[in-house]
Amino acid sequence: MLRFLTAGESHGPCLVAIIEGLPAGLPLEAEEINQDLRRRQGGYGRGGRQRIERDAVEFLSGLHEGRTIGSPLAMMIRNRDWENWRGRQIPPWTRPRPGHADLAGARKYGLQDLRLVAERASARETAIRVAVGGVAKALLKRVGISVGSYVEAIGGVQAELDEMPLGERLARARTSDVLCPDEEAAARMRARIDEARAAGDSLGGIFVVVAQGVPVGLGSHVHWDRRLDGQLAQAVMNIQAIKGVEIGPAFANAALPGTQVHDALYPGENGPQRRTNRAGGLEGGMTNGEPILVRTAMKPIPTTLSPIPTVDLATGEATTTQYQRSDVCAVPAAAVVGEAMVAWVLARALLERYGGDTLEALMRRVNNER
Ligand SMILES: Cc1cc2nc3c(=O)[nH]c(=O)nc-3n(C[C@H](O)[C@H](O)[C@H](O)COP(=O)(O)O)c2cc1C
Repeated sequence: MLRFLTAGESHGPCLVAIIEGLPAGLPLEAEEINQDLRRRQGGYGRGGRQRIERDAVEFLSGLHEGRTIGSPLAMMIRNRDWENWRGRQIPPWTRPRPGHADLAGARKYGLQDLRLVAERASARETAIRVAVGGVAKALLKRVGISVGSYVEAIGGVQAELDEMPLGERLARARTSDVLCPDEEAAARMRARIDEARAAGDSLGGIFVVVAQGVPVGLGSHVHWDRRLDGQLAQAVMNIQAIKGVEIGPAFANAALPGTQVHDALYPGENGPQRRTNRAGGLEGGMTNGEPILVRTAMKPIPTTLSPIPTVDLATGEATTTQYQRSDVCAVPAAAVVGEAMVAWVLARALLERYGGDTLEALMRRVNNER
């Protein structure tokens, strides 16, 4: 079974991950993973932390001459900001930020200093998840599966992408600093972010993760926890600030009659074929061979320069939030994290279906069915 754990605080020395269950023989290159780490660090609207960090993955175990050997793979990303905080006497944070983990986390763990909650709740942790996702992507690439993403909306500015083919959306998004395929909408998104920054406010938005080349039959209808749509929703929903997930245009589908929603089948060269993909690549909790579309809603960043009413836990008095260094908008970065989580779930489902202690055995089994 493929599984991973991460550890590390936002201002600790490093973030680490251990992945277990990878087949032996998988070539891994740090630079390939670092490209995604740089994409996560970028994006218009990010805060000052990203100017300090130069995220790069270091492999600590599980590799020999650049290939996995079946043993657990350990990885590390150093936090450069650690040096700046080491030994500093910081007064305890006692004013919880609404929308962040501060208040619930402090109550749950009996902590007086809210910073101790924020250290792990912070989305800094997503850097190591992107590295884990990079390993999953490397595995998927070997069997012809790719995972990408694009941003559809930021702060209410919506790109109109209906007429643009999926491949073009993904290609254009890769060269955009808001990951938006539509240049005109991207310009309005940047302006919206500038406006929010000037107003001391923050923004959320919508991104779509797309997986292509996925074989039929990953996941299963036979039991609730094997349904892949449920696994994907859980994996993306657990990213910090993600509050909505749909497979394909699920909410739009809900307003339409079935004959206008369900993807009709027609005879084709290799059996039945679809001409539409309103199911978003999944039927009965299984992949159906069409591109997988996972669309998510990210709430606005909880930390805002403009104060929000709160209560000082030290005094019980009404007060307002105290600003901490923060992003204004992190939707493009979150999309890269979304790719990592979707890649992870697909890699796990692939290994569950095809097994194989070696990459060679896995590839043979997948290719036999193609
Ligand atoms: C890539 C990314 C960057 C984020 N950056 C910040 C930030 O700079 N400041 C902040 O308050 N929240 C940020 N968040 C959101 C918080 O981490 C998140 O809202 C918080 O942990 C509470 O969790 P919840 O929103 O899932 O309930 C970011 C989220 C992501 C995915």
